[in-house]
Amino acid sequence: LSQASAQRHRRYFLLNNKAVNGNESLSRAPAPTAARPFQASAGERPRADCSMTISSVRVAAERLRAVGARPTPVLRSDWVDATAGCACYLKAEHLQRTGSFKYRGATNAVAGLDAASAALGVVCHSSGNHGAALAAAAAERGVPCCVVVPRTTPGAKIDNMRRYGARVVLCEPTQSARSETAAAEAAAMGGAAFVHPYDDAAVLAGQGTIGLELAEELPQLDAVLVPVSGGGMVGGIAVALHALRPGVRVIAVEPKGKGLGRCLALSQRVLDPEAANGALDTIADAIRTKCLGPTPWAAASQLLDPAVLSVDDDQIRAAMRIALLELKQVVEPAGALTLAALLSPAFKQLREEHQLRHVAAIVCGGNIDLETLFLHVRTGP
Ligand SMILES: Cc1ncc(COP(=O)(O)O)c(C=O)c1O
Repeated sequence: LSQASAQRHRRYFLLNNKAVNGNESLSRAPAPTAARPFQASAGERPRADCSMTISSVRVAAERLRAVGARPTPVLRSDWVDATAGCACYLKAEHLQRTGSFKYRGATNAVAGLDAASAALGVVCHSSGNHGAALAAAAAERGVPCCVVVPRTTPGAKIDNMRRYGARVVLCEPTQSARSETAAAEAAAMGGAAFVHPYDDAAVLAGQGTIGLELAEELPQLDAVLVPVSGGGMVGGIAVALHALRPGVRVIAVEPKGKGLGRCLALSQRVLDPEAANGALDTIADAIRTKCLGPTPWAAASQLLDPAVLSVDDDQIRAAMRIALLELKQVVEPAGALTLAALLSPAFKQLREEHQLRHVAAIVCGGNIDLETLFLHVRTGP
């Protein structure tokens, strides 16, 4: 570990220990939680810390096992290893139930509700994958689910949500429209529980089970590359690996233009409050959120490697083609992000600098229209 990152890890340990001692027992599963009343500003409420711990991740793993979810496979490719210059372990979250890792967080959040809260149903806003995941988790528990979706969401993702039983409500593609519409729908359902796609400790703990599986399956890891949008996945994985394999570097991969590296360097979650409500301009429709949420930021700002890898649309398209031809896998643009990063000159530099020999990359989702898939793999460099 570099000195800066060791210092960050120490700070998080103190903060996290306080959460463990103050809020929950390490050995006992926490009792189910009552639904939090939803506020339109829920996504932006300030949080001093993230109360999620490795014990919450273990509880989430038990809940996932209870509904029959299995660890996702790790794919290998001689071509990818040779091109990236190290052993690459591709964690196939596009093969997760509902086609993305989001099933982990949604299942944990729904399983954690007490019976009275769950009976009122669940609501979320989502550009697709969290919505399908919440719909599946709600159906599993036999409770109603409403998903608020930006009008720009691909048809395959909306179909996916409906197939799992969600009632879908369309809204304008801004953060404020999403929050306000979800608040109105939750109220109309008589006080349904709002499950945020990333700014929620239960969702983070669910996504953290990816880190748990990596730690168990791949003791040799030097680093893991994680795509980032609101930060729920990267925050959860960072907490799990920090507890179980503190030497593993957790490196965020972002669509070009997000600026997470600058946020980390300046310890500032939001660099431009006026622009934060908009969406990033990228073909990776699942990861257009500009800033990390306050809850994932509390973990990520202290645990992530300071280096952030940025990839552009051409790199993403090229990686989607490689996924299809070399790995024989269909992935959506966000799902190709870490593969694109592994093949980039910036990764080569990082690999040489830190002597990374065993690197995992999260292939996070595979939900895409056939026409869009063909369009992306046919065009580009
Ligand atoms: C396929 C896929 N990858 C990555 C992400 C980013 O996850 P997070 O918002 O937890 O950073 C999302 C979020 O919706 C997603 O659907």
